[in-house]
Amino acid sequence: MNLYSLVRQLMVCLLSLGAVSSVLAIDPPVIIDPPVVEFHMDQQDIEDGQYSLKEIIKQGNLLFDARFNKADGQGRPASTGTGAPRIADQPEFIRTSAPESNSCAGCHNIPSSGGAGDIVANVFVLAQALDPVTFSVSPEFSNERNTLGMHGAGAIEMLAREMSDDLIAIREAARAEAEESGESVTKDLVTKDVSFGSITVLPDGKIDPSNIEGVDWDLIIKPFHQKGAVVSLREFTNNAMNHHHGMQTTERFGLDVDADQDGMVNELTTGDVTALSLYQATLPTPAIQWPKRPAKRKEIRRGRDLFNQVGCATCHKPELLLNNPVFSEPNPYNPSGNLHPDDVDEVVKVNLVRRGFLERVEKGQNKGAGIVNAFTDLKRWDLNDDDLNHFANEQLPQGMLSGFADPDDFTIADQPRPTEQFLTRKLWDAGSSDPYGHRGDLTTLTEAIHYHGGDARESRDEYFTLSEEDQLAVIKFLKSMKVPTK
Ligand code: HEC
Ligand code: HEC
Repeated sequence: MNLYSLVRQLMVCLLSLGAVSSVLAIDPPVIIDPPVVEFHMDQQDIEDGQYSLKEIIKQGNLLFDARFNKADGQGRPASTGTGAPRIADQPEFIRTSAPESNSCAGCHNIPSSGGAGDIVANVFVLAQALDPVTFSVSPEFSNERNTLGMHGAGAIEMLAREMSDDLIAIREAARAEAEESGESVTKDLVTKDVSFGSITVLPDGKIDPSNIEGVDWDLIIKPFHQKGAVVSLREFTNNAMNHHHGMQTTERFGLDVDADQDGMVNELTTGDVTALSLYQATLPTPAIQWPKRPAKRKEIRRGRDLFNQVGCATCHKPELLLNNPVFSEPNPYNPSGNLHPDDVDEVVKVNLVRRGFLERVEKGQNKGAGIVNAFTDLKRWDLNDDDLNHFANEQLPQGMLSGFADPDDFTIADQPRPTEQFLTRKLWDAGSSDPYGHRGDLTTLTEAIHYHGGDARESRDEYFTLSEEDQLAVIKFLKSMKVPTK
């Protein structure tokens, strides 16, 4: 018997002891409080144009900030954070394997709703799949991650879609060539000047993924989770509502199904999830908040130049262009269990340029494109080497590299996503996102930069050859990038 099943057995014993003593206890109360969320939005009404964008976003904001109660359907006594069944009557809240919080904004609140989080708001990612066992925070069972902000996330989701489109088009061109020529074809995987290695397609259509870098083998860029594991705000929301709050959405868990046995069905509608996605997609875009004093502005500009000069910008791309700056919901790359464009009459659209979320390229070849200054390439890198391995603290792989594509399409067996690789962190909110690093255990930017080994070693070493004054200019530049406050 392993440790896990031992603890499980122990828990069953304790629970049955509890059942005996509860004969004497007073029955739980009949709840008469109204739910916190009294109005749910219907997806068909959204598609039929019954609500303005402002009203949809307001509903999303309300749901993001709502501290759900039992009358809403909060809690999941008989299922885990993945939706799998577990022994009923588990604790209503448990800090580690969750439900652990009352609202999305309970964690995402710095400097305001939708923002990043304090280290106390960390999540033990993958512990939600376990019964709430005491060892769920051990690195064998979960990955501790710091809360990220989602300001600017609409542009990030759209960038990832365009990059995925490009990479998949390269693969399909290679496939067509291989079929026609009867020989294997290898092509470089480059989109928006970011290289994801290369792909080889055999004449029978099978893919050799061994030289694909920094993205899953299905070539779908998943810009959310620091591991690059989730494709859309919608997919994240469906996961997070069940994981953190025990609130099941109908599109994930079905209509009139009480999967978690909390006595409530249809806890969140498809329209509610659309509203939540749009709320997150249209949060203000983080950017440099230019100070008034010319000397301070000059120092920020100098820091930005030095950042480029020492090579930070090779991964933290200061600018990526979004060819079509219109956010549309739902995302065509959504995996099953999430609304898909084929399921709707009308996708909801928001022009990110027209609404002031992004600046527009005014002339030249890319005229009309939106400018995204997120300081990322949406690629996974390994920042660890023999001397520096602070970012190699995780042990548990988060999912597999073939993504949700058919593993039989590949010439080699599916492999776990590498534990030591993380997406290049967006830096456009670096002035609002402390603590730093995927675990949030670093309180200064100096430490965050210091631990850049491996793929970033060269530029890190270059940075530390700068004078202290120059290093400080880079730090001041990073700190100047913030979530705008009203
Ligand atoms: C207990 C704290 C906590 C709660 C509650 C919480 N989150 Fe998060 N959220 C996190 C953490 C931690 C991350 C980073 C996860 C990672 O990198 O693996 C995150 C990441 C995200 C991201 C991805 C951001 C990115 O750029 O990768 C989205 C989207 C998100 N959360 C949405 C939500 C929604 C919607 C809710 C409410 C249903 C919610 N979160 C509730 C802690 C929380
Ligand atoms: C090889 C690609 C690469 C290069 C080059 C690179 N970085 Fe990073 N950076 C990353 C990745 C990946 C992360 C996420 C690390 C983690 O948390 O696991 C990161 C994280 C960061 C963070 C933490 C931000 C936060 O909110 O937690 C800062 C700050 C940062 N980088 C600054 C820099 C600076 C300054 C340079 C140049 C000296 C640089 N980076 C060079 C890939 C790179």
